[in-house]
This record gives sequence, C-alpha cells and structure tokens, in this order.
Amino acid sequence: MKICCIGAGYVGGPTMAMIAHKCEDHTVTVVDINEARIDAWNSVELPVYEPGLDEIVQANRGKNLFFSTDVDSAIREADMIFMSVNTPTKTYGVGAGRAADLRYIEKCARKIAEVCEGDKIVVEKSTLPVRTAESIKRILESNAEGRKFQILSNPEFLAEGTAIQDLQNPDRVLIGGDQTPEGKAAIQILVDVYAAWVPEERILTTNLWSSELSKLTANAFLAQRISSINAISALCEATEANVDEVAHAIGTDSRIGPKFLKSSVGFGGSCFQKDILNLVYLCEHFGLPDVAAYWNSVIEMNDYQKHRFARKVVSTLFNTVSDKKIAVLGFAFKKDTNDTRESAAIYICKDLLEEQANLSIYDPKVPEAQMLRDLELGEKDDSITVCGDAYEATKDAHAVLVLTEWDEFKELDYKKIYDAMHLPAFLFDGRNVLDLEALREIGFEASGIGKG
Ligand code: NAD
Ligand code: UGA
Repeated sequence: MKICCIGAGYVGGPTMAMIAHKCEDHTVTVVDINEARIDAWNSVELPVYEPGLDEIVQANRGKNLFFSTDVDSAIREADMIFMSVNTPTKTYGVGAGRAADLRYIEKCARKIAEVCEGDKIVVEKSTLPVRTAESIKRILESNAEGRKFQILSNPEFLAEGTAIQDLQNPDRVLIGGDQTPEGKAAIQILVDVYAAWVPEERILTTNLWSSELSKLTANAFLAQRISSINAISALCEATEANVDEVAHAIGTDSRIGPKFLKSSVGFGGSCFQKDILNLVYLCEHFGLPDVAAYWNSVIEMNDYQKHRFARKVVSTLFNTVSDKKIAVLGFAFKKDTNDTRESAAIYICKDLLEEQANLSIYDPKVPEAQMLRDLELGEKDDSITVCGDAYEATKDAHAVLVLTEWDEFKELDYKKIYDAMHLPAFLFDGRNVLDLEALREIGFEASGIGKG
C-alpha cells in the first residue's frame, strides 16, 4: 500500500517513521508545505528531537520512507492519506482563544478533493473536535465526481520525549470509522497496518464520534490529574504535608494509580491546554455551560500554579528580583524534547522579567533563538543570557530555578554551583527532582513544590 501523511511535525514524522519501520511492504511519504522542515527530515539533524527517532529514520529513509514538499503527487499516488497537520487554538473571530483552528485540516481536505484521482481512505491523525469528520466528508463528497472516500479517525496518543517507545508499544491504538460495510472494511485496512506490531487486543475500533471525542477526553483526564495534584501542592505548602508523599500514598490505591501525579510548575506542551479549551468550547456550543466550567477549571488551576511559582520566587527573594541574576535550568516543557510550546518556563520567565530580573537560561536542547521568540524578546535584549551549561548559568546568581526535569540536573555538582552564587543562595526545584536535604546541607535555601 502507498501511504501519504500530510504534516511532517512532531506527530507526522515519528508516527510515519514507525509505520515504515514496521511495515516494510508499505511505502510511506510524509509531505509538508514547510520546506525547511522537509529539508531537516532529509538531513542528519532531524527537526524533532526524540530518543530513538534518528535510528529508525536512518534505517528506512530512502527505502520505504520519504519526506517531500511535493504534496500533490504524494496525495495522488496514495491509497491511504493521513492528515497530521496542526490544529492550534483559534486566535481570531468566533471562538477565539478556545475553539480549534480548523483551517489547516480543511485545506488538506480540499487539497485531497482537488488532486486525487481514485478512491481513498482519509485518516484523521490530528486531534480534532468531535464531529469534524462530518465536515471533511461533506467537502470530499461534494467534490467526489465518482470517487469514493472513507474517513477514519485514528488519534495519536504518543507523548513527546517518549514518542518512539509509545509508538513501539502503545497502550492502545484507536480507530473510528463509519459502521457501514464500506466503513468497516476501511477500518480493517488500517487495523492491518498496526497489527504488524501491535497486539490485536490493543487495537480498539469504535464509531467516528467516539474516537474523536476519546482523544480530547484522554488529554482532559491526564491534565486534570496534574491540576488536581498541583492544587493539593499548594495545600501541602500551607500545612507541612509533602506532596510527593501524598501522591505516593494515594497512587497505591489501584483505583487511582501512580502515574501522572507528579506535582510541577504546571503542565505545558502544545496539546493539553489547546485540547481542553477545545472541549470547553464544544461543551458551550452544545449548551452545556456547567460541563464547560468544570473542565475550564483544570486550565485555571494550571495558570494559578505557574504564577504561584513565580510569586513565590519573588517573595522569597525579599520581595524583589529587580537586577538580580536568576538562573533558569530547563526551558523545554518536559525532559527529552526540544519542544517549548506552552512550556511553564515561558510564563515563569515572563513573570520574572516583568519584575525586572536578569535571567540566565540553560536548556540542553532548546536553541537560543527559540527562547527569544517564546519570550518575545529581540536578539540584543540584555535582560536574558542564554548559556551553554548549568555552571555558566548559575555563576553569580541569587537563585536557581529548575523548570524542566532533565536528568543531567540531578547529576550537577551543586557544591560548585553554591560556591559561585550570591548568598543566601536560593534554589527552587519546580519539578521535585532534587534532594532538598542534601542541598540544604551544602547551604542552599532550597524548596520544592508542595513541600511545607
Ligand atoms: P506540528 O505543528 O509539529 O506539525 C504540523 C505540520 O503540518 C507543520 O509542519 C505544518 O507545516 C504542516 N502543515 C500545515 N498545513 C499543511 C498543509 N495544508 N499541507 C501540508 N502541510 C501542512 O504539529 P504536531 O505537534 O505534529 O501536531 C499535529 C496534530 O497532532 C495536532 O492536531 C496535535 O494536537 C496532534 N497531536 C500532537 C501530539 C504531540 O505530541 N505533539 C500528540 C498527539 C496528537
Ligand atoms: C500528552 C499526552 O500524555 C499524550 O498522550 C498525548 O498524545 C499528547 O499530550 C498530545 O495529545 O499532544 P505530551 O504533552 O507530549 O503528551 O507530554 P506529557 O508527558 O503528557 O506531559 C505534558 C505536561 O505535563 C508536561 O509539561 C509535563 O512536565 C507535565 N506533567 C506530566 C506533570 O507536570 N506531571 C505529571 O505527573 C506528568
């Protein structure tokens, strides 16, 4: 089979690389309108950093895995077309700030209608509002001219930083489609692709709307757990309870489970906030304001946690960080990725810049230009310095903030860092990954999240 994927981003690239890797009989072409991105996929420096990704791309690129800007030809030749384009929060017009911006997905549908010649299976890989398949179907069928289209929903559940592991060994693959004989046949074709490496009992099939809604619901539930434990972290700080101990104690209840209970500076990433906002908007659209308010509180709590952290830094540093050097360790939204979209670090840095702090930032994978873009600063702004390592960033600092849980931050020589800082030397572990007792023995005024 010939497979085409429109969108060579964090999802399209790794997912298609895995399909090509596991299904050598299929040819997979990933296309994008962004030429620089396609060039990077064809180079040694891939545009997405993911442990294990280089190896599988190198093993298959040029054999049955291709990256190209020739969108039309790839669509024309494919039997199955994945749409894996971005679906950001709308910034204009009706629903601005909440609804999903579906212009890219609609452009894909129209492009497919325009250029393809025979029958096609079109797969929604992007995360979409429930019932989007209906619009895609309308666009394709209005322009069908005898061609037949089957729309499937196959949302992606990979997390960044563990994308390859998640794709290799998914908890489940979800495929939704029409419950007609033709729809079921299309579902089976996609089931067969995944069955090359995923046990069949982990391939779930549903109707289209359940599949679309399950993706938004999964992200909302995951984010809700983080907001719940972060809410408790504030109470821990007021009561001398320890949030890690509370999380462990509740997580051993098999009904609650231990995962996704790590208190932090707040969740980031391109999807949790956008998908919950989308869910909130949908609930309002369908006349369910109470349901909308319930899910919106997950985002409100996340905003509270990010600002609470910045406020705590300022109040601890004697209520002023003006002209003080504050070292920021970690800028990515989580470890093992170069992605900074909606990273909590952006909000915390902005709050501190507002207080006139001088920031020296180090992240092992995020380039300086990206940080400047995220902080909306020009190249020559002297309120931030981007450093090549943690020691340079922390030298002469009044405080160190750990904002991403990169493993290397656990291995640093904190005595060396302490010796080069102003006293009292403050350290705020925004990820609860450091040994606060050991840091206090060195002399740091160290605090974590949710630790009284
Ligand atoms: P991304 O921004 O990294 O990539 C999207 C790509 O689509 C871009 O390179 C863009 O140039 C391309 N594109 C847009 N319109 C196009 C068009 N008309 N023709 C060709 N290319 C076009 O986005 P992403 O992170 O890969 O996310 C894609 C979708 O997957 C989103 O709906 C997202 O919610 C969902 N998702 C993302 C993740 C994740 O971890 N990032 C996980 C699960 C699901
Ligand atoms: C998340 C989901 O985990 C994926 O299943 C989903 O496919 C994806 O969103 C998506 O739709 O885009 P991702 O955002 O890549 O994946 O990463 P997560 O591991 O979920 O982390 C999200 C944020 O929550 C990070 O900032 C992370 O640091 C934070 N987090 C996570 C916590 O603060 N505490 C936790 O216990 C877990």
